Amino acid sequence: MLILGIESSCDETAAAVVADGRHVLSSVIHSQIDMHREFGGVVPELAARSHVEQIEPVVARALAEAGVGPRQLDAVAVTYAPGLIGALLVGVSFAKAFADALGLPLVPVRHLDGHVAANYLSHPGLEPPFLCLIVSGGHTSIEMVTGYTSSRSIARTRDDAAGEAFDKLARALGLGYPGGPAIDRTARGGNPDVHRFTMPRFSDSSLDFSFSGLKTQALQRLASLPEDGAALRDFCASYQQAIVDQLADRVWAAVHQEEARAVAIAGGVAANRALRERLSADGGRLGIPVYLPEARWCTDNAAMIAAAACPYAREGRWLEGAELRALDALARDPEEEAV
Ligand code: KG4
Ligand code: ZN
Repeated sequence: MLILGIESSCDETAAAVVADGRHVLSSVIHSQIDMHREFGGVVPELAARSHVEQIEPVVARALAEAGVGPRQLDAVAVTYAPGLIGALLVGVSFAKAFADALGLPLVPVRHLDGHVAANYLSHPGLEPPFLCLIVSGGHTSIEMVTGYTSSRSIARTRDDAAGEAFDKLARALGLGYPGGPAIDRTARGGNPDVHRFTMPRFSDSSLDFSFSGLKTQALQRLASLPEDGAALRDFCASYQQAIVDQLADRVWAAVHQEEARAVAIAGGVAANRALRERLSADGGRLGIPVYLPEARWCTDNAAMIAAAACPYAREGRWLEGAELRALDALARDPEEEAV
């Protein structure tokens, strides 16, 4: 089954052709990072305009690099939620017009389900059930992935996302955007035990996350940080460790609670070196396999969107005709709306 995936929820215009949900024939990503860098974050209006310019050439390149003609496709998949509404609308409108003109069915994909499916691209043998930590720029949660099209929410952040915690400190330190990779790099060689931060816990024994207190503590301490490279490295390493400590703490508590037999991670923060090393080491000690998607599939891409769509397409759970034309983009996560 050949699926063309399209992703435009934030600052990457991406298209990919994936066979059988696991084999990537092409993956093209036009990143807007350089454009947004001077503003210290994504400017929604600029993002939407750039998607409009890039969507057609990016899709054309994805088809050409895969050596696949539009008529050989079985379906089109597109991220429809959550994300920046102006950005999402570009991908959704293009996908609708493209699919409708060719008489192809369309599978709407929740962006976070795409992140989870990135694991199938790096580990074609992986099958549900497994526990998945989803850590991106706008979202942090733990889900029990019970099947290819089903999952149960175990925990979520009560304030900031893990990626936001990285981005906000990096911004305060003048390390640039996006902040996660900058802190990851700066923390290398730093001593993570120099600064101690408190780990948030909720009295109701929930496994939810919280990162806003950590951010506040860190910003307060910045004023007294000596201005030298070693102090900056230690500070970034300590802050990163505090984030990783909290993520790992909740993951292993959730594994115990759910009696999970395998763990996977997903989303941009899953590219973080310290997080990957910690979870792998813990998993090795506990005898629980930990699946790490390759870094290129952790950050936003369209191959993961096509991978997530494949099981739905196999079951004929797609949109055609009037239903296809009625698809709308949603800024908010439909799963959270339902709670
Ligand atoms: O999944 P993603 O590409 O986009 C969203 O759906 O949000 O995630 C972007 C987030 C940003 O907050 C970025 O700083 C973070 O992932 N990120 C990292 C690393 N690479 C990307 N955070 C920590 N370490 C990294 N190596
Ligand atoms: Zn994402």
